[in-house]
Amino acid sequence: MFELPAVAQTAQDRIASVGLEGRIDVCAGDAGADPLPAGYDAFLVANLAHYWSPEQNRALLHRIRDVAAPGATLLIADFWTDPTHTSRSRPP
Ligand SMILES: C[S@@+](CC[C@H](N)C(=O)[O-])C[C@H]1O[C@@H](n2cnc3c(N)ncnc32)[C@H](O)[C@@H]1O
Repeated sequence: MFELPAVAQTAQDRIASVGLEGRIDVCAGDAGADPLPAGYDAFLVANLAHYWSPEQNRALLHRIRDVAAPGATLLIADFWTDPTHTSRSRPP
C-alpha cells in the first residue's frame, strides 16, 4: 500500500491491530513526487485517477512502469465524473 503519510500511519495501525503487518507493506509518500517502491508484480491504482489531471495520471503510470517487475499487472479501479466533478459521467 502506498499512501500519503497520515493515511499510511492510520493504515499501518489498523493492519497491526488485526495482526497482518507481516503480510502487507505500507509505504508513505506522495505518489506524484516520491519514489515508488520497486519490484512488485501487481499495482492497483484505486480511486485516485479521478482526482488527478490526465497529465498527472500519465506521469504516474509511467513512474509505475519504471519500477514494475517484468510482466507486472496494472489494475485501475475508479469511477469517472462529469467535467464539473460533481456527479458521475453517464454512459454514451
Ligand atoms: C478516494 S480515496 C481511495 C482510497 C483507497 N485507495 C480505496 O480505493 O479505498 C483516495 C486516496 O488517495 C490518496 N492520495 C491522494 N493523493 C495522493 C498522493 N499524492 N499520493 C498518495 N496517495 C494519495 C488519499 O489519501 C486517499 O486515501
